[in-house]
Amino acid sequence: MGALVVAVQPVVLAQDGSVNHDPLEARVDALLDSLTLEQKVAQMIQGEIRHMTPEDVRRYGIGSVLNGGGAFPNNDQHASVKDWLDLADAYHQASVDTSLGGAGIPIIWGTDAVHGHNNVIGATLFPHNIGLGAARDPQLAANIAAATAREVKATGIDWIFAPTVAVAKDYRWGRTYESYGADPALVAAYAGPVVQAMQEVGVLATAKHFIGDGGTWGGEDQGDTRVDLPTLLTEHGTGYWAAIDADVGTVMASFNSWNGVKVHGDKRLLTDVLKQDMGFDGFVVSDWNGHGQIPGCSNQQCAQAINAGVDMIMVPKAWLPLLRNTIKQVQSGEIPESRIDDAVRRILRVKLRMGLMTRGLPSERASGLSGAIGSDSHRALARDAVRRSMVLLKNEARVLPLDPGGRYLVAGVAADDIGRQSGGWTITWQGTGTDREDFPGATSILDGIRAAVSVAGGEVITEQVWQEQGFGQKQPRLDAVIMVFGEAPYAEGQGDIDSLAWQQRDRRDLKVLAKYRELGVPVVSVFVTGRPRWVNAEINASDAFVVAWLPGSEGAGIADLLIQDREQPRYDFAGRLPFAWPDHDVNPADVNAPVEAAAFPVGYGLSLEEDAAITALSETAMGKPKATEWVLFAGSVHEPWRMLAVGPDGKPAPVGPAGAHAIDHNLSVSAFDYRLQEDARRIVWPGTGHHALQIGSETPADLSKWLVRGGVLEIELRLMKRPTESVQVAMFDAGANQGADASGVLDATDAFMALEERWQRLAIPLACFDEWGTDIERVTTPLHIATAGDMVLDIARAAVREKASPAATVWCPQ
Ligand code: BGC
Ligand code: BGC
Repeated sequence: MGALVVAVQPVVLAQDGSVNHDPLEARVDALLDSLTLEQKVAQMIQGEIRHMTPEDVRRYGIGSVLNGGGAFPNNDQHASVKDWLDLADAYHQASVDTSLGGAGIPIIWGTDAVHGHNNVIGATLFPHNIGLGAARDPQLAANIAAATAREVKATGIDWIFAPTVAVAKDYRWGRTYESYGADPALVAAYAGPVVQAMQEVGVLATAKHFIGDGGTWGGEDQGDTRVDLPTLLTEHGTGYWAAIDADVGTVMASFNSWNGVKVHGDKRLLTDVLKQDMGFDGFVVSDWNGHGQIPGCSNQQCAQAINAGVDMIMVPKAWLPLLRNTIKQVQSGEIPESRIDDAVRRILRVKLRMGLMTRGLPSERASGLSGAIGSDSHRALARDAVRRSMVLLKNEARVLPLDPGGRYLVAGVAADDIGRQSGGWTITWQGTGTDREDFPGATSILDGIRAAVSVAGGEVITEQVWQEQGFGQKQPRLDAVIMVFGEAPYAEGQGDIDSLAWQQRDRRDLKVLAKYRELGVPVVSVFVTGRPRWVNAEINASDAFVVAWLPGSEGAGIADLLIQDREQPRYDFAGRLPFAWPDHDVNPADVNAPVEAAAFPVGYGLSLEEDAAITALSETAMGKPKATEWVLFAGSVHEPWRMLAVGPDGKPAPVGPAGAHAIDHNLSVSAFDYRLQEDARRIVWPGTGHHALQIGSETPADLSKWLVRGGVLEIELRLMKRPTESVQVAMFDAGANQGADASGVLDATDAFMALEERWQRLAIPLACFDEWGTDIERVTTPLHIATAGDMVLDIARAAVREKASPAATVWCPQ
C-alpha cells in the first residue's frame, strides 16, 4: 500500500510575495492568487448532502460537503454502493466544472466513519473506541482505521471525521464511548497510528474535538471545561500533538466552552495554541453549526469564528446565507482578507497533499475496492477486535469458559439486537430505529453463541422458548444462563445521564438475574455498554461478568471467548479497563464531579486462569439527592419508555429518533433542534379524527412513592397552533382501555388554550390523575395528549418530578 499523502518539507509560507521554494506551497500560492474573493470563501463552506445539491456546488464553487449521521444519497437508508459513488461523482464533476464561475477545485466529502463506515448498509462495524482502548493495541486500531478508510474510499468519500481523541473524565457524558480511555498517553498512542493508517489509504483524517470535549463540568455534552491552559493541554491535548506529528490534515473545533468561552470563537486556542504553538498546518473545520452558538453569531453569519481561526465552516443547511454574509464581512473589513487567504491556503494545501487535484473521479479511485464493504477480511479483523476488547470483571469459581457441548439459556435485551450492540452512529445518528435488515452479513451475540455450541452438539434455548415451555417438570437441564443486557443506543448529548446507576428505579435486569439464579446454575452476564456504569448489584448477582462495550457487527467475537474447550481454550481475555469501573452511582461529595471510587481500577481485567475472589460490592446508592425526577423524554425517550403516535384506530406506531407518523399517516412527529441537535419534537395533529401522542412502556411502573411526595408530571412545551377542538391529557394504567372515556383522562382544553408560542412548563399533580382514576401503582402510559382537532405542539422534556419546577404552571381541572 503506497502512501498517497505526500510528505512535505517544512512549510515555507510565501508572505509579502517572497519566493517560495517548496513546490507544493508554491502551487498553493499560485492557485490562491488565481481565486476571486467569492471563490475563496466558497472553498471555506461545507454544506450537508440533504441541503446542498451538485447543482449548488457547480453554481457556487463550494469546497466541501458532508453527510451527517443518518444522511444517505437520495435520503435512502438502503442506498447501494453505486448510489454513493454516483453522488460522489456528481459532486466532483460539479466542482471541477468552471462554466458557472466556480474555480474548478475538486470538492472534498467528509463523513463520520467513527467505528467503520457506519452510515452505509453492509459496512463492517468495528467496536467503538472505548473497546479499542480496552484492547490496548494501537496497531489493531490502525488496522481498523485502514480497513474503515478502504470502505469509505469504496464509496467515493475522501475524508473521515475521526479519530476522536477526547479523554472522557465523567462517564455521564454521552460520548464516552468515542474516547479511547482515561489516560492521555493511551489516547496519544492511538491517535498517531490511526491518522497515519487512514491517510495512507488516501483518506483524510480529523482529530476531534479540539479541545476539552471530554472534560466538561458534570460530563455535560457541549458544556464547559473549567481548567487552566496547562491542564487543558496535558489532559485533553495529547492526541493533537500525536495527530499533528502524523500529519493529520484536519482538526475539528469542539462545541464545548473553555472557562465559559466557546472554543469555536476562541482565537487563543484555535490560532495561537493549535496553529502556532502546536504547529498545525492543515485546516480547522468547525463542528455542525458550532459557529452559530457563539454569542453574537447565528448559523447565517459568524465573523468571530473565522477570525478566531476556523478555516472551513460546517454549516449543514444555512450555507448560502453564510457564504454571502462572509463575503460581505470581508468587504466591510470585519474579516481581514489575510485571514481568508490563510484559511484557503490551508484548505488548498490539504487538497494538494491528498493529490485531489489530479486523482480524478471518485468512482475511478474506488474501482479496485468494490469488494471492500463488509469484506470477509474486514469482518475477521472486527471479530478479532471484539475478542480483544472484552473485559472480564468476575469469574467466580472459573465458570468461564463454557463448554461448547452444554445447554444454555440465552436471555436479555441485548442478546439478539445488532443495533443495540453497535451503539450510536450506526446507520442513523442516534443508532436507534434500525432493524435486522439494516445489517446484512452481521451476527448478533446470540447468533455467535448458537453457532459455537451447535458445532459441538450443545444447545441454546432462548428466553422466549423458555417462557413458552414454562418452568414445569419437562424443562430441560441447563448448564448455565447467559444474560446479555445493556444500554440502548445514543449519540452526543442525547446520551448524557445524571447518574451512573443502572436502572435505579425499576431494576429490570437485576430481577431477571435473581430469577435465573434460582435455577441453581451459573449465571454469566454480558454487559453491552458505551461506558462504565454502576452495576454492583448486577455483578453481585452474577457468577461471571463480562464487559463487551459496543462490539459492532461481529457479535460472534463474544462467543469466541465465552464458549470454548476448557482444557484447550483458543483465546484468552486480553481486554483491560480503559476507564476505572465506578463503585458509586454519583460522587457522594459533589454530584457535579465525576465518581472517584473504583470497584475495579483502570487496567483491570482477568484472564481465564485467574481466580480472583470478589467480595460483595456495595449496593448502596449515593445518588438520592439527584433522584428528584424520573425523565421520560429529554432529547430522546429514556428507557424503558417509548414514544408512540396513535391514530383513530387506537393502534400505536413507534416514534423513532427522527420522528414518525401515526399508522394512518395523519399525525406527524418530527425532531428539531432546541438546546441541542434534534432534542425536541414537533407534533402536528391533523384534525382528521382522534389522534394522540403518548409515552408508554409494556412494564407497568409504580409511581406511588412520587405520589406520596406530592409529585407531578411536568412537560416542557410550546404551542405553535391552538387546538381547534377539545384536548385530553391522560395517564393510563395497565388496566385502562385508553379510550377518551377511560379513567385517568383530564379535559385539558382550557390549559392548552392558555399556552403560548414560547417554551413553558406545565405540571400536573399525580394526585390529579389519581383522583381521575389512574391506578398510580401500575402506570403504563404516563403521558398521553390527544385531540380530534388541529393543533401543533412542540415538546422538549417530560418527567415525573418530586416537585414542580419553580417556573412551571401547576394545573389540574376543577
Ligand atoms: C459531532 C461531530 C460530527 C459532526 C458531523 C457533530 O454534531 O459533534 O463529531 O463529526 O456532527 O456529523
Ligand atoms: C443530524 C445528523 C448529524 C448530527 C450532528 C443531527 O441533527 O441529523 O445527521 O450527524 O446532527 O450532530
